[in-house]
Amino acid sequence: MAARAAVLTGLGGYLPPRTVTNDELPRQLDTSDEWIRRRTGIRQRHWAGPGVSTGDLAVEAGHRALRSAALGTGDTVGMVIVATTTPDHPCPATAPDVAARLGLGQAAAFDLAAGCSGFVYALATAAAALTAGHAEHALVIGAETFSTVLDPADRTTAVIFGDGAGAVVLRAGTRDEPGAVLAVDLGADGTGKDFASIPGGGARERSLRPEPNPDDRYLRMRGKEIFTHAVHRMEHSSAAALATVGWHVDEVDHLVGHQANLRILHALARQLGMDRQRVVSHIQQAGNTSAASIPLALADAAARHRFQAHDRLLLTAFGAGLTWGSAALTWPAPTPGRAHP
Ligand code: UT7
Repeated sequence: MAARAAVLTGLGGYLPPRTVTNDELPRQLDTSDEWIRRRTGIRQRHWAGPGVSTGDLAVEAGHRALRSAALGTGDTVGMVIVATTTPDHPCPATAPDVAARLGLGQAAAFDLAAGCSGFVYALATAAAALTAGHAEHALVIGAETFSTVLDPADRTTAVIFGDGAGAVVLRAGTRDEPGAVLAVDLGADGTGKDFASIPGGGARERSLRPEPNPDDRYLRMRGKEIFTHAVHRMEHSSAAALATVGWHVDEVDHLVGHQANLRILHALARQLGMDRQRVVSHIQQAGNTSAASIPLALADAAARHRFQAHDRLLLTAFGAGLTWGSAALTWPAPTPGRAHP
């Protein structure tokens, strides 16, 4: 009998209704639709707006993924992971509240902070737990409200990031089933911690100052340096995952990379020796949604009937930390998110 593995069985994405096109960005940013499209590929992003938190978006995406997995009454979700850099509170974690609002009883629930690589880290964590027999089903959500940490006067970040959530349901199955997560590769390099960071709001700042510095609540990013690291790290992590699973790069049907910049995705494909047709992109519509970007790209592509059962997918991400991670999986039948709309 084939070895135990986590199998993808549900998928859902949620973008808050308010779209912000490039032309609608605040005038003081001194930017243009032409620059943003040419340098990033982004045409619009979604911003959640007042009173809507990461947990709210996570609940919507989680609900859609659970519905598409069509779990039976006897099936229990034993683990809920919310990958996010913009949690609802420093304490408690966002995931227990999300699990409770989704009616998932007393499932183990925790947040995972690995920047834009968070979804791949969470997928790997849940897959390991299912393979080890710690749960039979897991809900993995990437959710962000980056609009809450954007400096409205910083054109190097404010034009790029968007809000959203994407989620998958995994169940314990076997490696020979379509939908199986077959290999993962994770890594980090903390010497690059200052390349992208939110300086305030944590113990470091509180240990230094009784009153927070208002500017320190914003994301600061050294975009050009991150660009280079992103391509390099995702290329090597992708190669590691492919080596583990034993696929040649030509056998990969779809490259689903973190949606940070269309130029990064194209540079990555070039480095890996893949044609652009295999690159899945969603950044045009949603911007960079950090930990939500890969499941959102999956949900969008699935809704457009892009994947067939047994297709080979390579997921790869890079983010603050620095962190990176990749996963190789096949596409399930029927396609989650379409069979049970
Ligand atoms: O999600 C994971 C972590 N994040 C990333 O992976 C992001 C990676 N980095 C990037 O995507 C790109 O570096 C950016 C999109 C952030 C910036 O694009 P770039 O092509 O690397 O631009 P740059 O930083 O080299 O700047 C080129 C010029 C500069 O002007 P000067 O010095 O040449 O006069 C910038 O000031 O473009 C200027 N610029 C802008 N102009 C109009 C920077 N941002 C903007 C803007 N609108 N929004």
